[in-house]
Amino acid sequence: MKFSTSLVASLLASVACAVPHGPGKPPGPPAPPQPRGPATLSRLASQTPKNTLPPPTGLQLKYVMLGIGTQNYTCTPGNDTAVPGTTGAVATVYDIGTRLNTDPMAQWKIGSISGLALSLSAYPKILEGYLQSQGYQKILGQHYFTQTTPTFSLNKVLPLPYPIAFVTKDDAMDAPKSSCPGTKNEGAVKWLKLSDKDGRSQGAVNTVYRLETAGGSNPPTCKGMKATFEVPYAAQYWVYGPTS
Ligand SMILES: *[C@@H]1O[C@H](CO)[C@@H](O)[C@H](O)[C@H]1NC(C)=O
Ligand SMILES: *[C@@H]1O[C@H](CO)[C@@H](O)[C@H](O)[C@H]1NC(C)=O
Repeated sequence: MKFSTSLVASLLASVACAVPHGPGKPPGPPAPPQPRGPATLSRLASQTPKNTLPPPTGLQLKYVMLGIGTQNYTCTPGNDTAVPGTTGAVATVYDIGTRLNTDPMAQWKIGSISGLALSLSAYPKILEGYLQSQGYQKILGQHYFTQTTPTFSLNKVLPLPYPIAFVTKDDAMDAPKSSCPGTKNEGAVKWLKLSDKDGRSQGAVNTVYRLETAGGSNPPTCKGMKATFEVPYAAQYWVYGPTS
């Protein structure tokens, strides 16, 4: 499907998340599409969204991925005071880093990609059109939980064996107030620093930052909720590993 800016503009007219919150207005019109950059993301590494998480000291930025999927929760139906439990998340992860690394507009785009993608995720064809138009359509793999372990399987990345990270939470911070609160105003999930669990990760990746979150939060109580339910979210996963 051809990406229609006017169609998207009209669809998004009522969607708060489409409003970028980058550092001010971009200078002049959008730049033309850039060629594919080198495999290293050194330029983009200096544009990591500002956060208060411990820095990735001594590590190299390997991938910047857009995750679109759901955060899954459980509830005891009928218990209006119980707090929902979390059972994990499922998301498809797309390569946004390759393009952003050579995009002079990256600084202004980074802050709006997650909210925009989440807003469009209800319209798969339009989402696809948006991703295509920006060069973000390449799927790297999946994010899911292996039992209770957050897992990032980049199973579309060659050569084999593909990178896979099994991680655990190191640190967290609230998402900034300007974050997209989600399709039903659920609130943006926390930003996290996740790092390798028990040396199980492979393929030169060992640390994942969840940044630029949109939606995904659980309601405060189980009131009116089913036994299991999902909350749509999008986030950026900034993936690091040992320098090569
Ligand atoms: C409801 O949930 C609260 C908080 O988790 C718990 O203390 C309480 O025992 C639960 N009540 C019932 C009837 O399960
Ligand atoms: C989360 O929800 C998705 C979509 O229904 C489902 O496929 C997946 O198995 C669930 N995952 C977990 C960990 O609950």
